[in-house]
Amino acid sequence: MPRERVWFDCDPGHDDAAAILLALANPDRFDIVGFSTVCGNALLVNTTRNLNHLLSYVDHVVAIHAGASHPLIVSADPQSGAHGISGMDGFHFENESCPVDGDGIVALKDACLNNEEPLTIFALGPLTNIALLIRTYPQVISHIKQVVIMGGAIYGGNMLACSEFNLYGDPHAAKIVFDTADQMPIVLAPLEVCKAGATPLNRFDAFKSEGKLNQMLDGLFTFYCRYAIDRHMDRTPIFDMLTVAYALDPSRFKWMEHPIDIITEGEHTRGMSVVLQQVSNAKNVRVLHDCDGQWVNDTFFDSMHRLNAMLH
Ligand code: RIB
Ligand code: CA
Repeated sequence: MPRERVWFDCDPGHDDAAAILLALANPDRFDIVGFSTVCGNALLVNTTRNLNHLLSYVDHVVAIHAGASHPLIVSADPQSGAHGISGMDGFHFENESCPVDGDGIVALKDACLNNEEPLTIFALGPLTNIALLIRTYPQVISHIKQVVIMGGAIYGGNMLACSEFNLYGDPHAAKIVFDTADQMPIVLAPLEVCKAGATPLNRFDAFKSEGKLNQMLDGLFTFYCRYAIDRHMDRTPIFDMLTVAYALDPSRFKWMEHPIDIITEGEHTRGMSVVLQQVSNAKNVRVLHDCDGQWVNDTFFDSMHRLNAMLH
């Protein structure tokens, strides 16, 4: 199977980090072309620093391209509840070795246009950068293999009663992206598939074994799991990680194909993803609604074990 050219647009974020590490642990499958950051879990300065800390720690020192510092229209609404004040609390990082520029949208445009092979974009935060990309440079759309988005919900939400955080974070950007589904393949990993692939809390004990990577993962996920423990949950979704797990083996996932509309306003509905029932092949989104959770977690922890052995 040829290596897939991939790009991470992210707001690290413990689960963004897990998604990136899962791809790094499978270099036979993914050619990671680049990274852009967006305001989401935390302000852009923090999500960019967090990505720099992560990549520097695992010796993947590459250019980092900061993107939008705030949503298109609504105000930034960083959430410290799940990820802490820094946006990725739990471990003290020392190095920021990656060069950083502010050209997230341009870098992503160049990654789309500068290679014959189409690009898969993992969109792990609010969709501000993706919306700016396709509106500023619409010629990239035909060079995008798929945008795999963690976001939305078929029912319910985790930010508002009816809204998941990433789409809530920039609802106008989300509407622009989903309205482009007739030109650009979109795979959506909503809260439902993240719940199906949730990780039993006792599996994180694996990070208490020896090793440089385990040391970081133990710190980060001891912090991250606090949120679930406080709510008497026996498992926690590593939300963004499901996007890379899907790309590793789509056969482990179940989906439906429907158009999706985004509600941009409303006290309870800002960012709500509405799965439209009318059949419209043109604008269908592949909405993941279930997965083999055992396989997802076995694959994630086996990959972290392998990556831990590679790091010194
Ligand atoms: O709702 C989950 C999403 O919000 C994830 O991408 C997480 O990193 C946060 O950004
Ligand atoms: Ca994220």
